[in-house]
Amino acid sequence: MIDALIAAALAVRENAFAPFSKFKVGAALEDADGGIHTGCNVENATYGLTVCAERVAVFKAISESARQFKRIAVAADTELLTPPCGACRQILWEFCGDIEIVLANPRGKIETWRLKELFPRPFDASYL
Ligand code: THU
Repeated sequence: MIDALIAAALAVRENAFAPFSKFKVGAALEDADGGIHTGCNVENATYGLTVCAERVAVFKAISESARQFKRIAVAADTELLTPPCGACRQILWEFCGDIEIVLANPRGKIETWRLKELFPRPFDASYL
């Protein structure tokens, strides 16, 4: 299943709309029923309205009624594997909790993290 998730992240990466950075990212989010929700980064001429692959995948999944998640694969073409940015860590925490994060590149390099390792003291609705 992790192999299929990584393959989905690598495949959707090809759809990245990244004319400004040329940096393509793909994400594949597995829900509790085994469904896979993919996303790529979608850039914008104003730069600041760019949305990362991970958030596209989360928002697509939520819009498709998924609410519980097992893991997310993130694919980019870097040797030091690309982790989710700070904004995506916040969104992942709020929608997915301490999810498994599988980082991958097109040459088969893989690392597995828990979100809590990358984002140790998150703010969330429990403080409100
Ligand atoms: N990006 C992602 O989509 N996910 C990440 O984990 C890191 C950064 C995108 C945002 C922007 O389109 C490009 O990569 C360069 O920052």
